Amino acid sequence: MLCARQPFEGVVGVTTAEQDDAAPTTRIQLHGLDAATVAVAPGTTVRVSYLDDGRATLVGPDGRRTGPMPGPVRDGRSSAGSPVPRPTHPGPRHVPPPNIVSSPQQFNTHDLFVDMRPIVDQKLFCKVEGMNFAGSVKLKAAAAMVEAAEAAGQLNPWSIIVESSSGNLGVALAMVSANRGYRFICVTDDRCNPQTRRLMETYGAEVHVVSVPNPVTGLLGARLDHLRALCERDPDTVWLNQYENPANAGAHYATTAPSIARAIPGIEVLLVGAGTCGTLMGNARWFKQHRPDVRVVAIDVEGSVSFGGPASPRHIPGLGMGMTPPALDRSLIDDVVIVPEVETVRMCQRLAMRGFLFGGSTGTVVAGAARWLARHAHPGTTAVTIAPDQGERYLDTVYAPEWREQHYGPAGDLSRSHRLPAPTAGPPAVPTPPTSEE
Ligand SMILES: Cc1ncc(COP(=O)(O)O)c(C=O)c1O
Repeated sequence: MLCARQPFEGVVGVTTAEQDDAAPTTRIQLHGLDAATVAVAPGTTVRVSYLDDGRATLVGPDGRRTGPMPGPVRDGRSSAGSPVPRPTHPGPRHVPPPNIVSSPQQFNTHDLFVDMRPIVDQKLFCKVEGMNFAGSVKLKAAAAMVEAAEAAGQLNPWSIIVESSSGNLGVALAMVSANRGYRFICVTDDRCNPQTRRLMETYGAEVHVVSVPNPVTGLLGARLDHLRALCERDPDTVWLNQYENPANAGAHYATTAPSIARAIPGIEVLLVGAGTCGTLMGNARWFKQHRPDVRVVAIDVEGSVSFGGPASPRHIPGLGMGMTPPALDRSLIDDVVIVPEVETVRMCQRLAMRGFLFGGSTGTVVAGAARWLARHAHPGTTAVTIAPDQGERYLDTVYAPEWREQHYGPAGDLSRSHRLPAPTAGPPAVPTPPTSEE
């Protein structure tokens, strides 16, 4: 349900409870006003504005105006004195049901998207995955891998979970391990943010930081060497192995992909960042099976060898690998975009200038998606990408001018040269209705 206090414009997502299969409609809930029902297909844009007397008007996807709608409701009557129209759907009208959890991994957001049109001038929606207790998309992989290991009888109360992570999976596993009562050792390298390390330790995890690269396989290889040594030394260790564990991609097949298709049924292109390729493969497999009309594009960083490019130093954790990802199945990918890190940090700053503080890899996927759409898509193509985490953990790196200057020189700094268009620069183009349904 959309709630608007202010003049509002946005994409309509429909939760199952509100969706009527015969005629998809969404109730638009205006602050202080009774519900108004407008027939719109999910994924389209509506605009709400307020008249001087407090009444609201709503412009639907066809550009037609509904309203003015009644003013504030008092005793079941609007300020205009007329009986207030009742919503056509049953269920709670003002307040969503409470979300009461007994473990942190039970909570996740499935229906939050940012409309990137004002920032990249493309019809790009970004699925936000960092709004959970672990702060990132990796909660899904962590919870699924621990659940699968428990179901397979691999974990007992004295087990020690061990895993290699650039940070986010480590935090998520530290959180899930704390909740489930397991010891956890995270093997990371010196690209891991100090705050991320401290977070894991706060959950009771042990963090081993590797700083000397394996001469052939690099820092990731050195992490895996260290992990194997730990496993050889202690028979109670259980390596979940996010690189090869099918539960990693399985979590995205089961949740991320169907929630994208449900929220944005007109999707034509899905662009996903590639680290272990869990997110990419889970989504790609689901879309190839259920929506083969959707093109799937992988986004990787310069310096990663995942798609055959030459290895070079990378400074932002999350995307890219120093070896071919074991989970990668190229047959499910239609195209690949490679993004230099300098574009990543510039896009992160552009997003922050609009009030969206995302993690480094979101800058990469938004920059890569915008570039791919500009080159390969027709104007108005509906595209979706995924924001893996939020930006607070990157204040000392991606969002620190000195750090950017050190790694990318003056080209990494947007603030001196870049100006975004004014946020209220006229009404947006009304998007075309979705071309296909889930
Ligand atoms: C910030 C961030 N972005 C992207 C990814 C990539 O996700 P995946 O490993 O599913 O490819 C990760 C993985 O750790 C991450 O931490």
